[in-house]
Amino acid sequence: MAETPLVEQLVTLRQQALAELAQLADLNALDAWRIRYLGRKGALRQVLRDLGRLPPAQRPRAGQVSNEVKEALEAAFAARVQAVKQAQLEAALARERLDVTLPGYPVSLGRLHPSTQTLREIVAIFADMGFQVFESREVETDLYNFELLNIPPYHPARDMWDTFYLNERVVLRTHTSPGQIRAMQAYCPHPIRVVLPGMCYRYEAVTARSEIMFHQVEGLAVGTHVTMADLKGVLVTFARRMFGEQRRVRFRCSHFPFTEPSVEVDIDCLVCSGQGCAVCKHTGWVEILGAGMVHPQVLRNGGYDPEVFTGFAFGLGPERIAMLKYGIDDIRYFFSNDLRFLEQFG
Ligand code: PHE
Repeated sequence: MAETPLVEQLVTLRQQALAELAQLADLNALDAWRIRYLGRKGALRQVLRDLGRLPPAQRPRAGQVSNEVKEALEAAFAARVQAVKQAQLEAALARERLDVTLPGYPVSLGRLHPSTQTLREIVAIFADMGFQVFESREVETDLYNFELLNIPPYHPARDMWDTFYLNERVVLRTHTSPGQIRAMQAYCPHPIRVVLPGMCYRYEAVTARSEIMFHQVEGLAVGTHVTMADLKGVLVTFARRMFGEQRRVRFRCSHFPFTEPSVEVDIDCLVCSGQGCAVCKHTGWVEILGAGMVHPQVLRNGGYDPEVFTGFAFGLGPERIAMLKYGIDDIRYFFSNDLRFLEQFG
């Protein structure tokens, strides 16, 4: 049986719509297609407007076909939307592809600065010998940094410490020794056994051997029976614990205005064990610290009667200790913040 023109129109419409639909790959275009064919003013409705004018005998067939076409288009549309969404999802997943079997990024661990590590090691060794940490100030007065330590203004000994003056009276401490006076004034009249760690500053040309900032650890013991033998025992113990039990230790006469007598302490060279090399400048010995018996005038300045009390003091530099211990040949590495250097410690 031949189909009526309206049915043929519907069949053609379906073909055309489905052919177009198959080309579409984005959701906006699909929506436009839906409006064009299935919308209230869409192509399907246009055809159906003519349905009422058909002879009654033709209407059931035309109605049936129009329903089929409508359902076919709706089903095809839904399937197409589904397919496009699926394709978009797969594309997004492919873009964000994640290989969970790859090794993770290593977390970079923080660590203590080599100066801090050495400082703590030094403090721990003295702590075992009964020394407590006493913290003193980095900004000092001329009075404490020099005068109370027996270094009057214009005294030639001031040449030993090139100083950053903040004004005529105030300085950045050039050594931790002013902490001796502060500790004595805090403890007087009791016995003292303290170490004073901290940063010091000197107005010096920066070279491989000298920096404008560096740490020191001061030591101070004051009591009624403190002797040079105590000083030697403490410092030999320190040197051997820090640098190895077999270390030989030498006490060499020296001069500091705030100690009398004064010594400098050497250990046999770690690199050549005393044979002579570039590190020890072919002497076999390297200096590790300065020390001495606290000068009577300094004891007095701290509030102690030198007829009753005696004391010893020493001062050493953690950077210098670390340089000897780890074979570092340039002090500038410590404060240049180069991770290639810092990461080798710890
Ligand atoms: N303060 C001295 C210096 O910086 C070291 C020292 C400390 C010497 C204590 C003797 C006693 O060179």
